[in-house]
Amino acid sequence: MNIIFCEDYEEMSRKAAAIIASKIILKPDSVIGFATGATPIGLYKELIKRYEKGEISFADMRTFNLDEYLGEIKDLETSFYNFMQNNLFLHIDVKPENTDIPDGSAADIQAECERYTEALDLIPEGLDFQILGIGANGHIGFNEPDDYFPLDTHIVELTEETIEGQKPFFDDYNKIPKRAVTMGIRAIMNAKQLLLIASGDGKSKILEKALFGPVTPNIPASILQIHRCLTVVADRAALSQIIEKHPDAIL
Ligand code: PGA
Repeated sequence: MNIIFCEDYEEMSRKAAAIIASKIILKPDSVIGFATGATPIGLYKELIKRYEKGEISFADMRTFNLDEYLGEIKDLETSFYNFMQNNLFLHIDVKPENTDIPDGSAADIQAECERYTEALDLIPEGLDFQILGIGANGHIGFNEPDDYFPLDTHIVELTEETIEGQKPFFDDYNKIPKRAVTMGIRAIMNAKQLLLIASGDGKSKILEKALFGPVTPNIPASILQIHRCLTVVADRAALSQIIEKHPDAIL
């Protein structure tokens, strides 16, 4: 595991974008798994800048996403579908037909979970890259703490802590969806490379536990410790516990 130190959110966004951009240059037809949330917004802005400067093109790329709320998501401004359109896809040359996000509004959600799992299974050797954030409770995607690691795409009841974490995106707490559909742990762990990004004090304790504590489904992100190619790009605040307890682990 490589842990890359950044002074602040801007530096984290720039360094994470540089890593993704170099992958796209090396392999223009990469299959990349994107994440939503507050953390990757700056990274996406940086990718858009590089695209506008003509440094990278997304035209041959395919994309997947980690998760989506359950319900009438295309009407929901805060859906992850709309998040990806507004924060990245509408600003770059990715082909809409090459982007895939679980459809949380599917009438048969179980069938949609199976479709998504199969679509991921069809990628030879797994995703080239999966971008991940980490929840305050250690979730990755919406794989919430549990007593086992759910392997394939599945429906989740969001924990109270996760629902709280979605507050900045909603004007009314009652409108925050309580259920979601998420990529499982298998597709995440099958990705050839993982890029975990984290920013802010609120992530420092969980980041240290996930990366240096026992591997347990109670902290889903702890499974990342056994991935063959994990890069963590995080800012000083998010790394504060690791800086204190494992200073030699940081590049
Ligand atoms: P955040 O969410 O980027 O909004 O902190 C991260 C996550 O829940 O995975």
